[in-house]
Amino acid sequence: MNTFGRLFRISIFGESHGPAVGINIDGCPAGLKIEPEHFEEDLGRRKSGAKGTTPRIEEDKPEFISGIYNRFSTGAPVTIRFENKNVKSRDYEKVQARPRPGHADYTAIVKYRGFNDPRGGGQFSGRMTLPLVAAGVIAKKIIYPATIQAELIEAGGSKNIEEVLDKAIADKNSVGGLVECTIRGLPVGLGEPFFDSVESLISHMIFAVPGIKGIEFGGGFKAAKGTGSEYNDAIIDSSGRTKTNNTGGVSGGISNGNDIVFRVAVKPTSSIPKTQVSYDFEKDEMSEIRVTGRHDVCIALRVPVIAEAVAAIALADLKLINDVYKSFGDKIKF
Ligand SMILES: Cc1cc2nc3c(=O)[nH]c(=O)nc-3n(C[C@H](O)[C@H](O)[C@H](O)COP(=O)(O)O)c2cc1C
Repeated sequence: MNTFGRLFRISIFGESHGPAVGINIDGCPAGLKIEPEHFEEDLGRRKSGAKGTTPRIEEDKPEFISGIYNRFSTGAPVTIRFENKNVKSRDYEKVQARPRPGHADYTAIVKYRGFNDPRGGGQFSGRMTLPLVAAGVIAKKIIYPATIQAELIEAGGSKNIEEVLDKAIADKNSVGGLVECTIRGLPVGLGEPFFDSVESLISHMIFAVPGIKGIEFGGGFKAAKGTGSEYNDAIIDSSGRTKTNNTGGVSGGISNGNDIVFRVAVKPTSSIPKTQVSYDFEKDEMSEIRVTGRHDVCIALRVPVIAEAVAAIALADLKLINDVYKSFGDKIKF
């Protein structure tokens, strides 16, 4: 569904080439200072325009519909909307008959019995991450003073991102990437076992981002190869600080006070200018296709701020829930 969260509850709406995309946030606490300028940095980091990103440039100006008055959240639902202005829908006329390999065209046609909006990928577009980034700006205020920072650490398996991009562009191809995200300064205690562990909710939100195919926390998949004596994080002080951070800041699904660290694998963009094959459902045969339209060469370039936003949304929800439980008393003295 298009809603996530228990206390900090978001609902996204819109489609890539419809009039607008947006988000409604229910449960945003009253009294948060929210000004239009606070959104500029994160929305700017998600914007296209740099090498390897789509030539579709949008204004991405947030329109605040409700829930903010005199620069503070009111406690009513916060609704933020962004107009879609720069659309070229003709590029998508063929995708219903010949779905793009790797994209959601085929599954959307079957699931929605052909009633889906195929223009620009419809609701499967990376554009849906714009309102998520806006909600992330508010979620970051809720988890403050914890901070969250993500960066692209590899593209195409290499640290030389520029070189990898140049090659993908020259080859009319696309390339994947690895994004690492670190959350510092979270207290011990966020996360609601069994099902709403920190890893579960961050992963849930991360997999809502189109094009993401994997996530690992801390030492990640290396855990499968190691021994306990190498892997275990020794506690070295009374705040629970650990010498190493193989668990990625989460133990038993609960934040343990160390940095939460996770990495996400972003796949290569499906829509590439290089000739590919797909099934032609009109002719009932396989055929060659060349995907047209304006596309990112490397989606991962734009993912860091999106990963920050979705993790912040999951953690804001867990923080509000944890604050309710904390209100029942102080920490147990050993
Ligand atoms: C910021 C962002 C931009 C994206 N841009 C494109 C794009 O230009 N072309 C494309 O084919 N897919 C793009 N995607 C990925 C598709 O939306 C995604 O692959 C598709 O919905 C299918 O979902 P899946 O890859 O998770 O299976 C983008 C994703 C994000 C997060």
